[in-house]
Amino acid sequence: MSGVSFEGVTKRFGDVVAVDDLTLEVLDHEFLVLLGPSGCGKSTALRMVAGLEDPTAGIIRIGDRVVNDLEPRNRDVAMVFQSYALYPHMTVRRNIEFPLRTRKVPPEERERAVQDAAGVLGLKSLLDRKPGQLSGGQRQRVALARAIVRRPSVFLMDEPLSNLDAKLRVQTRAELIELQRRLGVTVIYVTHDQVEAMTMGHRIAIMNEGVLQQVGPPQAVYERPANLFVARFIGNPPMNTVVGVVTERDGRLHLAIPGGEQPLPESLWPALRARDVRSVVLGVRPEHLRIDPEGPVAATVAVVESLGHERHVLCRLEDGQLVILRIPADVPPPGEGSMVRLSADAAQLHLFDGESTERIAAVAGEVVEARR
Ligand SMILES: Nc1ncnc2c1ncn2[C@@H]1O[C@H](COP(=O)(O)OP(=O)(O)OP(=O)(O)O)[C@@H](O)[C@H]1O
Ligand SMILES: [Mg+2]
Repeated sequence: MSGVSFEGVTKRFGDVVAVDDLTLEVLDHEFLVLLGPSGCGKSTALRMVAGLEDPTAGIIRIGDRVVNDLEPRNRDVAMVFQSYALYPHMTVRRNIEFPLRTRKVPPEERERAVQDAAGVLGLKSLLDRKPGQLSGGQRQRVALARAIVRRPSVFLMDEPLSNLDAKLRVQTRAELIELQRRLGVTVIYVTHDQVEAMTMGHRIAIMNEGVLQQVGPPQAVYERPANLFVARFIGNPPMNTVVGVVTERDGRLHLAIPGGEQPLPESLWPALRARDVRSVVLGVRPEHLRIDPEGPVAATVAVVESLGHERHVLCRLEDGQLVILRIPADVPPPGEGSMVRLSADAAQLHLFDGESTERIAAVAGEVVEARR
């Protein structure tokens, strides 16, 4: 088994910088999720590990071997794509054993590998069917089985669940997590679905426009996003972000935002004074915002959305921008059109530099690349 490391890896396609100076270490046995919006370079990063693209610059290692010049078939990786591309005229058995046949593995050994993989993925009763006689989820599992029989030390998965319906996704997600734990392999899993990222990864690496934004365990990234991009990308409904101006009164720092003045936690004063930042973006997650008659900020309730298990209350601030707060379904919601006041727990506020968009941390170096 082995980890994978990117060291200053860049990939250009003409003028497009698909991956920009990526340095990232995926640990042995780790399930690392590469997350980001469409076009941010996730697939390109993965394809460079598989050997399907050559880096323009930088070094890629699998284990302690530099693989830049190694043929794909010698890299000991298996890649599973979104379009699982099974051979339609072959049975499930033939599809699964295909990589072993091309390697001239003897029949008894092939059969054993097929039985093992089919057992792990619950495909034993389907081995004699053709792909056309399978559901989408079953086909996806066949594609996984075909990757497993090769016993690679690294699995590369590029949005493998995106063709499945919501229910199957939840189920297959759980199966993939179990599979990774059982086989103890290193997995790099590409997705643009933040729920998959939060639930599957030991760590998430978030990319935007080819640039790595943050790496860390899902909960740490959720609680301490390193910049505004990450703050807005992770979380649903997304974090509320409001631009404000830092003001000082009687030696206390506040943030003037539309509809009121939010007192800023004392722990952040030194950082704010040191940076001399005036324009600050305040971030508050919907679950940390409350309707509170004593709250510092005035707003008008625009819409209340019932989701069954909870409600989303959309409020307009003085300048018309919307903020969202979540309340439990059993709490009576405010009337639409009513005036309310809002408050947020000081410990749950996120502040970002309005110019650099970086998180303003109470303690220097608070946001460091978290490692397992
Ligand atoms: N072969 C290619 N030639 C030219 N440009 C490419 C090529 N492959 C990818 N790109 C560009 O590189 C950038 C990153 O593409 P990539 O496929 O890695 O994104 P992605 O994060 O996987 O997106 P998605 O979520 O849509 O799959 C995009 O701007 C894309 O258009
Ligand atoms: Mg892609």
